[in-house]
Amino acid sequence: MTRASLDKQPADVAAMFDGTAERYDLLNTLMTGGQDRRWRRAVVKAVDARPGERILDLAAGTGTSSVPFAEAGADTVACDFSLGMLRVGTRRQAGVRRLGFVAGDALRLPFADDSFDAVTISFGLRNVADTGRALRELRRVAKPGGRLLVCEVSHPPNALLAFGHKAHLRYGLPLLARVSSNPDSYTYLAESTLAWPEQATLARRIQAAGWDAVRWRDLTFGVAALHHAVNPG
Ligand SMILES: C[S@@+](CC[C@H](N)C(=O)[O-])C[C@H]1O[C@@H](n2cnc3c(N)ncnc32)[C@H](O)[C@@H]1O
Repeated sequence: MTRASLDKQPADVAAMFDGTAERYDLLNTLMTGGQDRRWRRAVVKAVDARPGERILDLAAGTGTSSVPFAEAGADTVACDFSLGMLRVGTRRQAGVRRLGFVAGDALRLPFADDSFDAVTISFGLRNVADTGRALRELRRVAKPGGRLLVCEVSHPPNALLAFGHKAHLRYGLPLLARVSSNPDSYTYLAESTLAWPEQATLARRIQAAGWDAVRWRDLTFGVAALHHAVNPG
């Protein structure tokens, strides 16, 4: 399997996810100790998709993060650039109404300006080569007043927890990687999380991309964070 490095070359990132597509959802749950389900519920509540709305779930992978929006009655677009993930997603979510899969790159979204009532990205922004450009693209395709929800791994603000979390990333995950059938995914998760900015820095980047009313909420003591913002138009 290809493992993307921290320069996040698009072809390597897409190939890495192509290679894990079949087992991605299970792997995700294993790597987060089952916390991913709680985090997904928080995202669904925050996006608050309504019937008739158009929602973009960017870096949607197999569509696990997108299904609840469609089930809430919103027309939902699950966009990703890994054809392997999209293939698994279209098969797995075949029965879900109002959900469409679209191949597209976060850095050059294949949508017109002002297209969506809400745009969201779960565990995807960390993998994109240019965070600022992806956030600007998300703003371009969001309607004025449209909502942004970014769910991403993060860093516990409590010093003791931060120490334990970093130790887990530096030593725990590499140990798990040794006994896993998918060691590269564990290694990439550890490396990319350690290199990812803390909550306040990400909030500043979101604001710098033109979003307004930026705020965040820690999930599981800050192991993940949910950033909210609004497109001022
Ligand atoms: C960890 S998965 C998250 C999938 C899904 N959002 C979820 O919560 O389960 C990250 C996804 O980001 C996608 N991705 C990374 N960079 C991307 C880019 N530049 N454009 C579109 N998708 C991208 C990968 O292909 C992968 O499917």
